[in-house]
Amino acid sequence: MGYGRSTSKLAKLTTKIYSSLRTVEWKNNAVVMIDQTKLPNKLVFVKFTDYQDVANAIRTLVVRGAPAIGVSGAFGLALAALQSKAKTKEKLLEDLEKARKALFETRPTAVNLAWGLNKIMDVAKKDRDVPKIKESIIQTAKKMAEEDIETNMIMGKHGSKLFENNDTIMTHCNAGALATVGYGTALGVIRATKESGKKIKVIATETRPIMQGSRLTAFELKHDGIDVSLIPDTAVGYVMSKGLVTKVIVGADRILRTGHVFNKIGTYQVATMAKQHNIPFYVAAPLSTFDRKSNPDDVIIEQRKASEVTGIAGKKTAPDGINVINPAFDMTPPELITGIITEAGVAKPPFEESIKKLFKSRM
Ligand code: MRU
Repeated sequence: MGYGRSTSKLAKLTTKIYSSLRTVEWKNNAVVMIDQTKLPNKLVFVKFTDYQDVANAIRTLVVRGAPAIGVSGAFGLALAALQSKAKTKEKLLEDLEKARKALFETRPTAVNLAWGLNKIMDVAKKDRDVPKIKESIIQTAKKMAEEDIETNMIMGKHGSKLFENNDTIMTHCNAGALATVGYGTALGVIRATKESGKKIKVIATETRPIMQGSRLTAFELKHDGIDVSLIPDTAVGYVMSKGLVTKVIVGADRILRTGHVFNKIGTYQVATMAKQHNIPFYVAAPLSTFDRKSNPDDVIIEQRKASEVTGIAGKKTAPDGINVINPAFDMTPPELITGIITEAGVAKPPFEESIKKLFKSRM
């Protein structure tokens, strides 16, 4: 189900996007989310009461961005709990496990999805009484959504100390309010820096082939009155070599204990270019984005369909039958990273030690 309003109406909203809209929320036993495939042309909300529709929304990028899909997965399980006709705990857990598997299989790279699903499954195992289990699942998922915004705001405060007056900050993909429940990770740091009174400018890359940079980052920053310029991905080296960028900040889909960062395809190129030009390269991500068990080779990089590369907006831009390689994410090694900003503080190299310390401080 969808209901929309044009972005011209949206432009008339006086409040900021992150404080006036929720990317995903629980309303009257349903999940309501912004359909991000329609932005920036239309602001359309979709409402789901079936967990399979939530799984499909994650798969088709109606909702995207690591923290946003983590919370959407949790809400998906809350719907599955409501849909279940189980009379016993055992049968309810069976229904939930089926839904968990369907939601988990939608996208393989961002670890937040597994984090959100596992958190709900743990809660489901605690009680005995079926109505009680259903209620605590819903309350936990709602709490996760609220905590996402709080976490981003704390992360923003920590990160803003690393940025100075008159910085021009490059960002890649969308790690904003639209990639989270609200406020954003990398864009949350940018928002907090501006809110602290510093004058900053942002350079956003287009982020081919899905255009999260031009469709989403440029859209949400422009709407919130943050000075943003859009560049083609191919201009990263040019703007850095001309001294037009002072710092880079991106989000992450998965960070390993060694500080290897998995993020949107192209991040590795941006980080390499930043190193070449001595520009600090920061990553902002909540602790729920860390996967301290896996090694680089264990992480599955999502491969997406060829048509995303062979055409733009339904128009062919490549010859029929061409071979295509279309990975959605890449890995940036720790030696290219200046710091990793989290809600527990900023990890600096050597990352294996500093990441361990951040987690210890939370125990
Ligand atoms: O394919 P997407 O749009 O889900 O990819 C999103 C990214 O790569 C983001 O940079 C990442 O999830 C961090 S979002 C706070």
